[in-house]
Amino acid sequence: MKQKLLILFMIHILGSFQIISAQSENNYNPTIENINARKWFQDAKFGLFVHWGVYSQLAGAGQTHGLDGEGNINEWIMDSKRIPVNRYERLAGFFNPIHYDPSEWVKLAKDAGMKYITFTTKHHDGFSMFGSKVTDYNIVDATSYKKDVFGMLAEECKEQDVKLFAYYSHLDWHHPDYWPRGRTGNNYTGRPESGDWDKYLDYVNEQIREIFTNYGPLAGAWFDGIWDKKDADWQLRKTYDIIHELQPAALILNNHHGDVNPGEDLKGFERALPGQKNFLGNKTETTTEHPMEMCQTINKSWGFNLVDTSFKSAKDIVHLLAKAAGNDANLLLNVGPQPDGRIQSEFIEILGEVGNWLKINGESIYATRMGPISPQDWGVSTIHAENKKVYIHVLNLAGEELSIPGFGKKVNKATFLKSGKKASLRYSNGNIRIRIPENEKDEMNTVVILEYS
Ligand code: GLC
Repeated sequence: MKQKLLILFMIHILGSFQIISAQSENNYNPTIENINARKWFQDAKFGLFVHWGVYSQLAGAGQTHGLDGEGNINEWIMDSKRIPVNRYERLAGFFNPIHYDPSEWVKLAKDAGMKYITFTTKHHDGFSMFGSKVTDYNIVDATSYKKDVFGMLAEECKEQDVKLFAYYSHLDWHHPDYWPRGRTGNNYTGRPESGDWDKYLDYVNEQIREIFTNYGPLAGAWFDGIWDKKDADWQLRKTYDIIHELQPAALILNNHHGDVNPGEDLKGFERALPGQKNFLGNKTETTTEHPMEMCQTINKSWGFNLVDTSFKSAKDIVHLLAKAAGNDANLLLNVGPQPDGRIQSEFIEILGEVGNWLKINGESIYATRMGPISPQDWGVSTIHAENKKVYIHVLNLAGEELSIPGFGKKVNKATFLKSGKKASLRYSNGNIRIRIPENEKDEMNTVVILEYS
């Protein structure tokens, strides 16, 4: 009897050990540097996403529709067109972006009012757009260009004071040890029908170590692709810990469309505002615990597409940015540069216009958080983290009177941000009514500042 009790006791103790060790694995206490970086991120609000790789040369190959009907055939072309590894590899040999000038890219981002750039260091095609030493299949060793485009961009970002994130795809259609293969990149690649998954994960971790060692301080990592093998043991925490050990302030986002995992710092939303249905038809949960970011692309393509002319207008982008801010999220807006390294003129023009709007109206976006009035049909509200002014972003208004729900404060001043003129306001039935005469309307987004006691 005594023995039985002892055994039961031992089982109990062991069981609680297991719980404790599982907990410590799940426990993630971000460092103070990391917490500060999160604040920087939330204040920054607007970033440039760049999808650039050897696939850019195929320019979408004349197709506008990809797997999800959203035209992402570009960086997916290896899969969509069933190109075997040994053929696709030749694309690297041709890649020679003679007009690549990262100072232009960074300047473009800056002039558009963007505070950071997220660059594809490795996409699903498995090609490293940085000078990796753990594979020859990289921009320095496998192309005629021979220069580390990511390193060049990192230098320029430092120079112009713009932060840099590394996009990195866990999914890899090229690596022989990406085995068993996932739901994409199957049966055409010509890869061996066997492989060593642990070796693949070591490869990922070595590359991540390179990225976070060789390019100075980075803003963080933007992971993608684990949805390719939902049930695989990705050992994400190990990778995340490597990053945080090397650079505690680096912020980690994983585009897995699910809840934030331990070790991740940000929550991403692909082509959807927080809480809205995304392209997969899933409703995406918002969070107040982690800074949020919505990514969207300037047309319908991520990588360069010659025929995709469905450009969003500057107004569309200002609306997106305001709506993102009004939902407590950043906007990461994508462009796909041309294979020669240039960014097409339409994008430059559109981004310039967005920048001009931000030059005047930036205080209603940067360093703000979701405002006290929840998103409405007419627009959104933001609140400045420090000065506590509330910004009303009027995106759609028929007529000249805006009615906004009261928010428990006595508003004693309303001013048009652009003209600096006072707006007349009155209260009725608990609503605040503001007159917005036609001559105060901004075609992009009319911002009214509310000050309250
Ligand atoms: C999707 C696509 C990918 C793109 C990414 C950007 O995950 O697979 O091509 O890079 O979205 O958010």
